Amino acid sequence: MKITMIGTGYVGLVSGACFADFGHTVTCVDKDESKIAAIRGGKMPIYEPGLDALVASNVAAKRLDFTTDLAEGVKGADAIFIAVGTPSRRGDGHADLTYVYAAAKEIAEALDGPAVIVTKSTVPVGTGDEVERIMREARPDLEVAAVSNPEFLREGAAIGDFKRPDRIVVGTDDPRATAVMRQIYRPLYLGEAPLIFTGRRTAELIKYAANAFLATKITFINEIADLCEAVGAEVKDVARGIGLDNRIGSKFLHAGPGYGGSCFPKDTLALIKTGQDFDSPIRIVEAVAQVNDTRKRAMGRKVIKALGGDARGKKVAILGLTFKPNTDDMRDAPSLAIVQALEDSGADICAYDPEGMEAAASLMPRVKMMSDPYAAAEGADVLVLVTEWDIFRALDLKKIAGLMTAPVLVDLRNIYPASEAAAAGFKLFRVGGVDASSEM
Ligand code: UDX
Repeated sequence: MKITMIGTGYVGLVSGACFADFGHTVTCVDKDESKIAAIRGGKMPIYEPGLDALVASNVAAKRLDFTTDLAEGVKGADAIFIAVGTPSRRGDGHADLTYVYAAAKEIAEALDGPAVIVTKSTVPVGTGDEVERIMREARPDLEVAAVSNPEFLREGAAIGDFKRPDRIVVGTDDPRATAVMRQIYRPLYLGEAPLIFTGRRTAELIKYAANAFLATKITFINEIADLCEAVGAEVKDVARGIGLDNRIGSKFLHAGPGYGGSCFPKDTLALIKTGQDFDSPIRIVEAVAQVNDTRKRAMGRKVIKALGGDARGKKVAILGLTFKPNTDDMRDAPSLAIVQALEDSGADICAYDPEGMEAAASLMPRVKMMSDPYAAAEGADVLVLVTEWDIFRALDLKKIAGLMTAPVLVDLRNIYPASEAAAAGFKLFRVGGVDASSEM
């Protein structure tokens, strides 16, 4: 199959490279010349494990190429995927569809034959209808079908998620589009990934419902964590105790500083807006979004509490700035709210993150970026573990305690058992842990 991918952001680049790796011929199109030049030169615009090697091998095999020329890129394509950004519109939280509709129009004008247009960007219910309308209006002479094919990729694990998905969702009732999509995903469903065909609006809603459900699960365990602290219970054991029930499942029950990233915050807001617009409010998701926002700021207060209630002139060392490990993505990262709260309270902050410091530097200009966890800990009054990068799981706690002014650890990801922290001389504060409340 010949596939064109419009947009070489996170989703477009990973999907394009993976489709090529399945043996399809893929052309990735982006308006940003410097981005295309960089990718051609082997420099990826995002950090994603394995992506550079995957791109390089498929480019070498001549199955993958990159262009800024959309008209050239869509020529002869069996399917054209739209994977452009859908940021939250300022002011009202609605997904901004300007780029999606502009892409649809531009594609239509460039088409040289019948086409299947597939929206991979996360878009509100009804967007596919509008994409189809735009295409038909621009090209009444051609047969066009608009399909919804949402992605469920996690940053940091995107290639594995693409190649071994839990399911593939395709929203269309057009027979030709169905046949094309079957062919495109053949290598995957031969590997037994369920390929689900639904109506287009249903597929669009599945994506939002999935993300909102996961955000709800995280927020649920986070509130249970707060209750654990209040009553003297252990949230890790609660999560295990409920997660072993197959109906609940053990994943996404890790209590922490609140969810961030490019998807959950934006998609929950967009779903809330859709619910309100259709007079069918999703009140549970409204609560989730609100609780999660409040939580991020509350984590800053937790650190101040660990400092004895006064952060003025204190030195805080933060480990992990990105919203989760294995990414350089700082979008809606809990570290942003934590740093803000601490700076407002007069603390001096230094930090270390394996991949996120470059992106973080402009967002938190007063934070001193350090070369490693030990350099960050030097002379600190408190060490705050915000993102659970693997290298933070194997810290020499004794060495760190020796470097600090006061060995206090606020472990917002519950990585270190109380016994280990105590053995290294740390006073430990955790999330939803018995010791967290008893030591305060
Ligand atoms: C998510 C969805 O998982 C993915 O299917 C969708 O396509 C895009 O959004 P992503 O944002 O990359 O992916 O990250 P994910 O691993 O899901 O984590 C999201 C946030 O939730 C992170 O801030 C993470 O730290 C937090 N989280 C996750 C928890 O706090 N606890 C958990 O148990 C799981």
